[in-house]
Amino acid sequence: MTATRIHLRAGGVSLLLEYDASWANGLPRVLHWGNDLGRLGSRQLADLAEAARPRRGNSAFSVPGIPSLVPVEAEGWLGRPGLIGSRHGAGYVTRLAVTGHEEIEQGVRFHAVDDAAQIALDLTVTLSPRGVARLGAELTNTGRTPYDLEHLGLSLPVPSHATEVLSLAGSQAHERVPQRVPLVVGAHVREDRKGRPGHDAPLVLAAGESGFGWESGEVWGVHLAWSGNQVHAAERPHHGEAVLAAGELLLPHEVTLAPGETYSAAEVWASHGHGLNELAGRLHEEIRARATHPRTPRKVLLNTWQAVYFKATPERLMPLVDAAAAVGVERFVVDDGWFRGRNNAQSALGDWEVDRTSWPDGLKPLVERVTAAGMEFGIWVEPEMINPDSDLARAHPDWILRPGPGQGPDSLGLPSRSQYVLDLANPAAYRYIAKALHRLLDEHPVGYLKWDHNRPVTEAGHGPTHTPGVRAHTLAVYRLIDELKARHRGLEIESCASGGGRIDLGILARTDRIWASDCIDALDRQEVQRWTQLLVPPELVGTHLGPETAHSTGRTQPLDFRATTALWGHFGIEWNLARLPAEDLPVIRRWVELHKSLRPLLHTGRVVVADHPDPSLWVHGVVAQDQQDAVFAMTSLGKPATSPRGRVRLPGLDPSTSYDVRLLGPEGAGEPPWTVPSWLQGKGIRLPGRVLGSAGVQVPAMKPQQTCLLRLTARQA
Ligand code: DGJ
Repeated sequence: MTATRIHLRAGGVSLLLEYDASWANGLPRVLHWGNDLGRLGSRQLADLAEAARPRRGNSAFSVPGIPSLVPVEAEGWLGRPGLIGSRHGAGYVTRLAVTGHEEIEQGVRFHAVDDAAQIALDLTVTLSPRGVARLGAELTNTGRTPYDLEHLGLSLPVPSHATEVLSLAGSQAHERVPQRVPLVVGAHVREDRKGRPGHDAPLVLAAGESGFGWESGEVWGVHLAWSGNQVHAAERPHHGEAVLAAGELLLPHEVTLAPGETYSAAEVWASHGHGLNELAGRLHEEIRARATHPRTPRKVLLNTWQAVYFKATPERLMPLVDAAAAVGVERFVVDDGWFRGRNNAQSALGDWEVDRTSWPDGLKPLVERVTAAGMEFGIWVEPEMINPDSDLARAHPDWILRPGPGQGPDSLGLPSRSQYVLDLANPAAYRYIAKALHRLLDEHPVGYLKWDHNRPVTEAGHGPTHTPGVRAHTLAVYRLIDELKARHRGLEIESCASGGGRIDLGILARTDRIWASDCIDALDRQEVQRWTQLLVPPELVGTHLGPETAHSTGRTQPLDFRATTALWGHFGIEWNLARLPAEDLPVIRRWVELHKSLRPLLHTGRVVVADHPDPSLWVHGVVAQDQQDAVFAMTSLGKPATSPRGRVRLPGLDPSTSYDVRLLGPEGAGEPPWTVPSWLQGKGIRLPGRVLGSAGVQVPAMKPQQTCLLRLTARQA
């Protein structure tokens, strides 16, 4: 039998697949993923395959050593298996053979079967016009007895010059901390067992050439579009090629396929680039191409959490509505504290009715004030959660996911923020919550829900037998959001989980933005936002302007620095403006106006980060897709490594276009708080992108926590 080769080419990327049903395990292998190889004839593809074939060592298997998309023992892969399943142990060795393939839009679908194990596997591989590969898998039990699936993950090989792994780590209010390890023999495994990706999620697991940065170094990365338990791994076996792998992490017996039943794996998104800017840029464009991607200007919002915390009363919120309107806010979002009995984190989750003690006339007067001021109304919910101290828990204690049978608080497992997870896979619990949310949305003109999730989904025994319920819960949440979106047209939803604990393309497929972190200290936010944008484009990342002293760190920062940090994403304010002297509001308004004037560019352009050896200086920008317009920030984070700092290059510009470069700031705000260098005085300078990207420009003498904003406009001929 001869091998079949499929060469997908798009967006500057090639993905070359090969399969041969005569192999022990005939699943498709990837012969190349990376730079576009150009048009290749079948003879050239055969030669390439030959040249790629690894040498068989002594006592090695008699099969080619290139791992398949779902690598298993029967193909000679002795690393972490892509597929684990059996019928009480029987049929645990799988030998899937491809029976054929069909072309689909932007890619191919392979059909494979294993008659002995009585399973069928469909693999979908697409390469989008943006150069992003998306992999899917569906496993069907073709036998007559139940099939226990333990794992189904997808892998892509990375070449031997990928020697370094990058992923993110972190914790609540300290999300998205980058970490690097060498890609040596063995596996670097990132498991998330919290029922959500978590604050420490890898976000994108990347492997690249030694020292790869934002602008250079070839790099490959994968992301699992899934909001439940998951595993990402970078593995280099001694006997073959290294892979990046990702898949759902299944708990014991979480998936038992009945005869004829199919398990659909979460999609793996894979992006390649020369430098992380290119890798992330491809992902951004892929996300932007979705039909559901927000295409209207992102409404500047005010969120009440760090302004009033649980004291969401009319006395506090009414003046805040007026102050929000005065600075140009377009959406007013009432955070936690508005529902029955909710005065702190200890009680009331589950009792989704307006608190009549604080709100004797309901939310109507507030909503009217918001809408009369021309703003949209938004509100916070945490539908998946329940406090034991709630009417809901008292009425339905069996609706709580828990480790096992038993009464009393101990039987619920470890508490977190005094709350537990509602068993949404229980139809009665689902119906109750869906009804409560529909009622809230029917009774108020809500344009936006902030959907929170403040504890991990652990010890999550579902139903009367307390079987593992994380997957079922995740699917129930997806269903609930889909149902709300279908019934309440135009509703936007934010995914928040104690800040950035649930950021993934599964949740983003049905929501409209993520809350990156509860830490709005501008210094910390610089890092959080930079790394969140490794996956998520800026228009989907909530970036808020907070008070002078950040609540999470106690650090005090000037307004300019806080505003230039929040400027880039989906801009918001999280600050009790009602307490400010009236003369301060116009200053804030100028920043809001600056953001509004820039958002068409910021929310559609290409994000670029400049590599710079001084860690106290960060340079990043957004360049319009047509490269006619750009905004850059040079940010002084701390004490400079040298003084003066020297020049920085501005990447991502068109080399042959001439740009007018000038200082950017809010209209009428006057000089920045640092000495403006001669090259930025008056009308600024005019230089080609080639010069700006190679020779660069001098960094002004800024103190720590100061930013120089630049606007670059193509000179019209
Ligand atoms: C955690 C979120 O991250 C905060 O922004 C806020 O909504 C609180 N929960 C409310 O309890």
